Amino acid sequence: MTVPLAIDARSLARHYGEGNRRVDALKNATFEIARGEVVAILGPSGSGKTTLLTVLGLINPPDAGSLRIDGHEVLREGARVTNLALFRRRYLGFVFQRSNLIPFLNALENVQLSLELDDVPPREARGRAREILTSLGLAERLDYVPAILSGGEQQRVAIARALVNAPAVVLADEPTAALDSERGRQIMEIFRRAARERGAAILFVTHDHRTLDLVDRVIEMEDGALTVRAGGST
Ligand SMILES: Nc1ncnc2c1ncn2[C@@H]1O[C@H](COP(=O)(O)OP(=O)(O)O)[C@@H](O)[C@H]1O
Ligand SMILES: [Mg+2]
Repeated sequence: MTVPLAIDARSLARHYGEGNRRVDALKNATFEIARGEVVAILGPSGSGKTTLLTVLGLINPPDAGSLRIDGHEVLREGARVTNLALFRRRYLGFVFQRSNLIPFLNALENVQLSLELDDVPPREARGRAREILTSLGLAERLDYVPAILSGGEQQRVAIARALVNAPAVVLADEPTAALDSERGRQIMEIFRRAARERGAAILFVTHDHRTLDLVDRVIEMEDGALTVRAGGST
């Protein structure tokens, strides 16, 4: 039995606006990403990186194309929104530029909540949340609320929250932008490890060329178009 591709995207397209305001933010995007791969998306501001991630994240419906995630066709006509919401929780993890943690919950509760939303019983959710936070070096921070965590710690809690459901795909939009280069590199190493140990495909937008030695491939975007090149050699 072959393992399905984490992402199998064919001719995805998305535009905004009409007439002379029309912007083709994503054009004819065709690419595959296997489980266990770490892929960086590079490109100037406005080139369509966020559009690509939100289309893959089932947040932004494309105009055309097909998309399989972990072997499941997700854009099929008639797929109901409720199913997509459930699918998103099961198969996808999101990390943003800012951690978007719930301010009145501590680190442990923030991660635990994401499991409980997926019907994991509280006791088990607590154990799994503690385990993943510990593996990301946050054992001493479990009962800290976001406001008293550093930026790098907040981002690691957000990553724990994204990874704890064991998603097939993690989508991260400039996850290291608010961090210094050492903390940024730490985040990259966490992604690398998550890909290897959990078999997740990691797709992240970055401007930081210094972290590209840790990726398998680079997707470059310009004016909504993609070019894919091998990574890991810079
Ligand atoms: N909701 C929107 N409505 C209209 N235009 C948009 C919208 N979102 C993005 N765009 C435009 O689409 C293009 C790609 O944007 P985006 O995907 O955010 O690029 P990036 O993340 O690479 O900066 C840009 O020209 C942007 O102005
Ligand atoms: Mg963007």
